[in-house]
Amino acid sequence: MPYNPNIPRDRYNNYGDREWTRLTRDGHGELLYHVHLDILNRHIKKADRVLEVGAGSGRFTKDIANMCAELTVADISSHQIEFNKNKMRELSLYEKIKGFHVLDMLDMKIFADASFDCVVCIGGAINYLLDREKDGVAELLRVLAPGGVLIAGAMSLIGSSLYFLNGVVQEKNLFGIEATRWVMETGVQDEEHYPVESKHYVHMMKSAELDDLFAAFPVTVLERSSAGLYTQAGDAAIENARGDKEMWELLIEKEIEFTKLPGTLDCGMNIIYVVRRNFA
Ligand SMILES: C[S@@+](CC[C@H](N)C(=O)[O-])C[C@H]1O[C@@H](n2cnc3c(N)ncnc32)[C@H](O)[C@@H]1O
Repeated sequence: MPYNPNIPRDRYNNYGDREWTRLTRDGHGELLYHVHLDILNRHIKKADRVLEVGAGSGRFTKDIANMCAELTVADISSHQIEFNKNKMRELSLYEKIKGFHVLDMLDMKIFADASFDCVVCIGGAINYLLDREKDGVAELLRVLAPGGVLIAGAMSLIGSSLYFLNGVVQEKNLFGIEATRWVMETGVQDEEHYPVESKHYVHMMKSAELDDLFAAFPVTVLERSSAGLYTQAGDAAIENARGDKEMWELLIEKEIEFTKLPGTLDCGMNIIYVVRRNFA
């Protein structure tokens, strides 16, 4: 299935405030939030000009705004950009944002080559690109200065299929075992093989695919991480742990640590790569 920008645009234009609460409403979201925040904190520098693409409602915009010299925000969904603007106004951060743009990451010609020291694209926008993944990464790297850092996150195939196994079984009953085998083998949930009601047509990724994707470009991988690893314990166990403050703090600390171990890379809900654009 070729990339269709209307799929993510329509989905996120009709998302209400769900994106804003995604990373705070439960333990699973909080784990994702803390792993990403730790990575952003360690790689974004005070003097950086940062572009956040697929910024959504601004859950990370509000943090990145205080980490760097200049932040530009972009998303394919006008609704998410309006929501993000309003949130930044509410939080008195609006003046810190250089610009808000409704755009597709595949076409960022409004930005000159090498305009940013850091590009952040986390939360899975890359998963929607399907046959245009390489073009997407090329465009993210084009606007990044040599020596600059790209922080990119994707939904994980293995982690998602572990967590959502009940859903996978239900969908097998709807679409058949061969369609389910296709999704498990390719990570591609598309209209032809897997016409889910949500129209959530994505390529869920394995770390080996992200390795291949970045190997096609002049970059050095600085860090690989999973995120949402303890999520696999199940909602009840996570909420139980979250009810105990000191236990929850320890779990967040260990989530951040264990997600850096190579053996856990594909087991969380997301996979995050930090890559440096090489000097020519
Ligand atoms: C799951 S949300 C993540 C939001 C935020 N980065 C976070 O992690 O909380 C994915 C966002 O990517 C945006 N998106 C999807 N495809 C995109 C594209 N091709 N170009 C720009 N934004 C895109 C969606 O509109 C949505 O706001």
